[in-house]
Amino acid sequence: MTAPDRFAGKVAVITGASRGIGFGIASALVSDGARVCITGRDPVTLAAAATELGGPEVAIGVAGKADNADHRVDVFDKVAAAFGSVDYLVNNAGINPADGGLDAIDLGLARKILEVNLVAPLAWTQLALEAGLRANRGAVVNIGSTAGARPVPALGMYGVSKAALTYLTRVLAVEVGPEVRVNGVAPGVVKTKFAAPLYENREDEVASRYPLRRLGEPEDIAGAVTFLLSESASWITGRMVDVDGGITLL
Ligand SMILES: NC(=O)c1ccc[n+]([C@@H]2O[C@H](COP(=O)([O-])OP(=O)(O)OC[C@H]3O[C@@H](n4cnc5c(N)ncnc54)[C@H](OP(=O)(O)O)[C@@H]3O)[C@@H](O)[C@H]2O)c1
Repeated sequence: MTAPDRFAGKVAVITGASRGIGFGIASALVSDGARVCITGRDPVTLAAAATELGGPEVAIGVAGKADNADHRVDVFDKVAAAFGSVDYLVNNAGINPADGGLDAIDLGLARKILEVNLVAPLAWTQLALEAGLRANRGAVVNIGSTAGARPVPALGMYGVSKAALTYLTRVLAVEVGPEVRVNGVAPGVVKTKFAAPLYENREDEVASRYPLRRLGEPEDIAGAVTFLLSESASWITGRMVDVDGGITLL
């Protein structure tokens, strides 16, 4: 159940939100009264997503790469101009361009994965703290992965980056409390473009391995993220919450 005005007056930045999980999070926040800034690399799909969320009164899109420092500054400048200060940051943008084992991974790709999935969330958090999170007693949610909890074949460096993101979440929570809470959500397989190679043409078989016998939808993740951002979670910090249909129980 949602509360239509629980985020009234609040402003959120969600990285990587032109589709998939990020868009689901942005939709849930807007539905409950927030204004949002979404990012993504492709300006065309990003603009369409911002329009679908309700247009410039409630949603702006700023195109760029999550690991680009100038882009990050641009985002907070545009948010300040459009909405004033920021209450929430959702570090959702993440990549996995590598395939195969760590024994042969290209080291440039390994560094890129860490740059986008780990260093960029830290950099976004640093800027967001100054852009309003500290003053407004805001919150951060980092999108991790079940691959960060245990090794998954061919997702090695991605898993390393998400495990480190879990630890970053814990360290930041200690450092930036009590003003700011920092939590995370670790999804199992959610039906998005990113995860399609993991279930396409064999969804029933993959889903049958999950205790809850289905794969995730972006809304499943959005529900947990909005809870962690909300006042209902005001005594929770430093936690990475598994939202995974029970798969990590096995
Ligand atoms: N789907 C799953 O099963 C699953 C499971 C565990 C964790 N996750 C995590 O969930 C997050 C979102 O994944 P998703 O499944 O929703 O992916 P998705 O459907 O492919 O959406 C990714 C979004 O991020 C944007 N994006 C991608 N790379 C970016 C970059 N370098 N800088 C800025 N924006 C970027 C994409 O737009 P552009 O392409 O235009 O940039 C798009 O809006 C990721 O952190 C992923 O690791 C997903």
